[in-house]
Amino acid sequence: MAGTTIIETHGLTRLFKENRAVDSLDLTIQTGELFGLVGPDGAGKTTTLRLLAGLLDISEGGATVAGFDLKEQPEAIKPKIGYMAQEFSLYGELSVMENLMFFAELFDVPKVKLSTRAAELLSFAGLTEFTDRRAAKLSGGMQKKLALACTLIHQPPILLLDEPTTGVDPISRREFWNILTELYLQDTTIIVSTPYMDEADRCSRVGLMYKGEMVVCAPPRQIRDQIEGEMIQVYPANWQAARDVIVDLPGVLEVQTYGEALHILVDSAEARLPEIEAALKAHEIDYHGARPAPTRMEEAFISLIRHLEE
Ligand SMILES: Nc1ncnc2c1ncn2[C@@H]1O[C@H](COP(=O)(O)OP(=O)(O)OP(=O)(O)O)[C@@H](O)[C@H]1O
Ligand SMILES: [Mg+2]
Repeated sequence: MAGTTIIETHGLTRLFKENRAVDSLDLTIQTGELFGLVGPDGAGKTTTLRLLAGLLDISEGGATVAGFDLKEQPEAIKPKIGYMAQEFSLYGELSVMENLMFFAELFDVPKVKLSTRAAELLSFAGLTEFTDRRAAKLSGGMQKKLALACTLIHQPPILLLDEPTTGVDPISRREFWNILTELYLQDTTIIVSTPYMDEADRCSRVGLMYKGEMVVCAPPRQIRDQIEGEMIQVYPANWQAARDVIVDLPGVLEVQTYGEALHILVDSAEARLPEIEAALKAHEIDYHGARPAPTRMEEAFISLIRHLEE
């Protein structure tokens, strides 16, 4: 049922010695949300997910998950959660089917339901042809899909997925997200951490973590709109030289590099585009494709982090 609270944390905190890995987190998640967790390395994403999965002790504060108290009733929460760890979590020597069966046993999936459920999941994950292959011999993308299938075997209403697509090729990433979208449409509540901003953009809401705190929490569009200014994109022949020229021009707020391209955040794209082109010409730096461009999550994210680090 959409619109009811399924996860609620109050001052949720986890300390590792002095380090507040998760610091006073107040987060409310509604049933059926697809919530993206982003933030730089060490921001506290994994720690948050592990706390919510009941895999780490809480230092301060608390949370309710699916109506149960995380501290007092962890055993009641376990069947409600499908948790996919950031690191490889399969049994490499076991086959695809054996891995599924292992997780089924772990979560006491009734035997009568098991073969139908396994067949559904294998087809869902596109792994039907690979049932007998050892997990270690699957491609990276297939391993991720199998791990997801394993976390779905007990039909949990809440999924906690920790960077499920990191290091996976773009096609497999897209396939994985098609599966997530399908689950989302079936009203599964999903919290997924990701380093990929195009994935964050597909979420209904995004939480940006920084040094253990959730510093921004809003729908992707609102996060993009928070960025002051407009974006200009240009492909210079020598981006380092171009960057040095552009960064000091009036009205330039920020210069980010994207492979061959420079993304320049300016106060006004219309006003600054001719000035930037003139400056590049004056310094005899060849370029092409200079034009205004939409602000994406990626720029918004980098800009937000940069401001936090100032
Ligand atoms: N088991 C642990 N023992 C000690 N410190 C830890 C432990 N796990 C995490 N930390 C620390 O807690 C902080 C948050 O780590 P966490 O793994 O949650 O970050 P993350 O956002 O998932 O990072 P990444 O993007 O690298 O996966 C870091 O400073 C990390 O060093
Ligand atoms: Mg992590």
